[in-house]
Amino acid sequence: MAGILQDKVAVITGGSRGLGYAIAETYAREGAQVIIASRSARSVSDAVKMLQAKGAQVAGQACDVAEIQQVESLAEFAIQNFGRIDIWVNNAGLSAPYGPSAHIPSSNFQNVIDTNITGTYNGSVVAMRYFLAQKSGKLINLLGRGDTGSISFQSAYSSSKVWVRNFTKTLAKEYQKSGVDVFGFNPGLVRTEMLSNVHAVSGYENGLNPLRFVAMLWGNDADVPAEKALWLASSATDGKNGSMVTVLTAWLILSRLIALPFRKLFNHSTELLELNITSVEPAVSGD
Ligand SMILES: NC(=O)c1ccc[n+]([C@@H]2O[C@H](COP(=O)([O-])OP(=O)(O)OC[C@H]3O[C@@H](n4cnc5c(N)ncnc54)[C@H](OP(=O)(O)O)[C@@H]3O)[C@@H](O)[C@H]2O)c1
Repeated sequence: MAGILQDKVAVITGGSRGLGYAIAETYAREGAQVIIASRSARSVSDAVKMLQAKGAQVAGQACDVAEIQQVESLAEFAIQNFGRIDIWVNNAGLSAPYGPSAHIPSSNFQNVIDTNITGTYNGSVVAMRYFLAQKSGKLINLLGRGDTGSISFQSAYSSSKVWVRNFTKTLAKEYQKSGVDVFGFNPGLVRTEMLSNVHAVSGYENGLNPLRFVAMLWGNDADVPAEKALWLASSATDGKNGSMVTVLTAWLILSRLIALPFRKLFNHSTELLELNITSVEPAVSGD
């Protein structure tokens, strides 16, 4: 039976691990030809091999999304391999050390801006060049915690995602009648390296402790949001341009709380998240 993405070509940035890898695997399972990219050529080639071993039609290229020429080259690579682009997922993302804004080394703050903001801009405009010409396409931009407000001690990440949400909504409005669907997608808490390998400004490490419990309670393995990303990329969302979709709904939050004593029955994780916290020196002294 043909999969729901049969004959579609999808580009997934940050597809070498975590959520991006799970999205690549899910799209490929449904018949898509998939291009994955991340900064590390080694990780990309390892991920391509793993996906190919599962029967995926996949190719990969190293690409830093912060560099527009590299993103343009990624799109050309997709065309060379599979002839077209139907779906583009701006999934590559980073967070900065946990701590107050002025205490965070500026290079860490800048990395988040370069990847989450400039990278999403680069991926979006490059994808739109192809999508507008063919009058179709699905552009999916990853939102994240704080995308609708301010989150203390995570200001680089949360403010970058506010920007992504705003930019995505604006693109959707500007190209309303183009045939292209532009979506924002917040996958909720996903148990990936981003969640478990974290950095904190020295002295602020304890602020991350609640994450162990929060991720156990409300976190999902990456295959759960990947199924939602599959729905977003499918024809089921044709014409739903501008939708902002979130996995961590009020219902999910409440139902997991209610189900807390029966978590094993529902196959939800019962283990606290294992957190690796690396301390970084503050950029300023004082609290
Ligand atoms: N995990 C969560 O709980 C959660 C919650 C909400 C939203 N999200 C969003 O979901 C997306 C994926 O997160 P994740 O949890 O899967 O993170 P992850 O496990 O840390 O994976 C991030 C991926 O992005 C790549 N990457 C990072 N910077 C890049 C750059 N400049 N250019 C190209 N690739 C880059 C990484 O590979 P390289 O290091 O090789 O570049 C890796 O493949 C992010 O946008 C994140 O903000 C995650």
